[in-house]
Amino acid sequence: MKVAVIGTGYVGLVTGACLAELGHRVTCMDSDTGKISVLRAGGMPIYEEGLAEMVARNVAEGRLTFTDRLEEALGGTEFVFLAVGTPSRSDGSADLSMIMDAAEEVASAMDSPLVIVQKSTCPVGTAAEIERTVSRTLAGRGAPISFAVAVNPEFLREGSAVRDFMQPDRVVVGADDREVARRVGGLYEKIVPPEKIQYMDRASAELTKYAANAFLATKISFINEIANLCEAVGADVEAVRRGMGSDPRIGPSFLAAGIGYGGSCFPKDVKALIRIGQEYKQALQILEAVHQVNRRQRIRQVEKVLRHFTGSAMAKGGSLAGKRIALWGLAFKPGTDDIRDAPSLDVVKRLKTYGAEVVAYDPVAMPYVAEMLGDQVNLAPDALSCVESAHALVLITEWPEFLDADLVEAAGRMCDPVLFDFRNGFDPETAVRAGFQYYAVGRTTVRSKWSAVRLGQAQEVGQCAFL
Ligand code: UDX
Repeated sequence: MKVAVIGTGYVGLVTGACLAELGHRVTCMDSDTGKISVLRAGGMPIYEEGLAEMVARNVAEGRLTFTDRLEEALGGTEFVFLAVGTPSRSDGSADLSMIMDAAEEVASAMDSPLVIVQKSTCPVGTAAEIERTVSRTLAGRGAPISFAVAVNPEFLREGSAVRDFMQPDRVVVGADDREVARRVGGLYEKIVPPEKIQYMDRASAELTKYAANAFLATKISFINEIANLCEAVGADVEAVRRGMGSDPRIGPSFLAAGIGYGGSCFPKDVKALIRIGQEYKQALQILEAVHQVNRRQRIRQVEKVLRHFTGSAMAKGGSLAGKRIALWGLAFKPGTDDIRDAPSLDVVKRLKTYGAEVVAYDPVAMPYVAEMLGDQVNLAPDALSCVESAHALVLITEWPEFLDADLVEAAGRMCDPVLFDFRNGFDPETAVRAGFQYYAVGRTTVRSKWSAVRLGQAQEVGQCAFL
């Protein structure tokens, strides 16, 4: 099949490359000429595991091309995927201007029948709106070309997007016409047997994507509230997670307590779904709480740093002055260079308002942070230089290189070896043995006493704050 993909961000580029890998002839189009030049020159505008190799292979084998000209992308194509951004507006609703502009441009340029596939995450009713826009534009041109609009949401996690595409849990296709649905589903026939494709109406497909992300975000905020309760009652959230998650009705995934979710999807999609509920006068109260808990979780972690140094979580201006705080990780999660709505950004800003000096290291995300935060943060060349003479080390993104780091060496280089583990990535005993005073999320003295007694190291309990 011949396919055009509009938008070469995370979703568009992965979709284009993977469809080419499945044997389709794909043209990826982006109006950002800089991005297209990079791609044509064999470079990658984003970091995504396995993507560069897949792009290179499919370009070399002649199935994948890039252009900044829509007419070129549409020439002879049967499907056009719209994979442009739908960012949050200030009121939380999804900004649809890019996808509606793209639909209008496609309608202005198309000269043969086309299936338009809405890949971007869009509120219920967007596919119908795209259909009206395309009809209107074609009518204005006096061009009675047949077309259909289908919805095919993505469930791609950054960092494992290529694998998620090639080995999907499910493929959802929303269409009002059975034949159109079957044709879109057919694009995936090499990886999903036809009976496994979930066909549904367009509104349900649009809502499925939001509901899936909102539910995963709910699991995260739920476990973070339980973690906060663990801190208050003296329980260990990691034990609670194991205990809960081994019930197959619950499952352990997306129950890792920490500083909360970030990225380009969960924060945006939760807010957009709340807005959709408001629009239809169906308040989504659980999601309001999910969003609030997630915001609060970031603040709460920085307060732990403040309380450690000042004895108070409400210290007024300048109370971290003279303290050098080292951050390990800036990306919103490991395996990506994406810092959109990353907890690290809030941590840096808050630490700065308290007068701290902030130094950070991330294996791939530093150029973006330098662009966004400029002189608010010093960037270190590697993990160990980052902690040099620091008064505290904060783990924000659980990259394997941090979890495998030599903690004894790290502690030795610091002024004051205290470790704030905002992802519960380290084993508390290992951290304490390395010489750290150790704070985690939702892990309490219960575990530390138990460990200490078991190991006959009662003395360490006194040195260690498991909060
Ligand atoms: C998400 C969805 O998983 C994917 O299906 C969708 O299509 C796009 O949005 P992504 O944003 O790439 O993917 O990341 P994901 O792995 O889902 O993690 C989102 C955030 O939740 C990250 O900040 C991560 O650190 C956090 N998280 C995840 C937790 O805090 N705890 C967990 O247990 C899991």
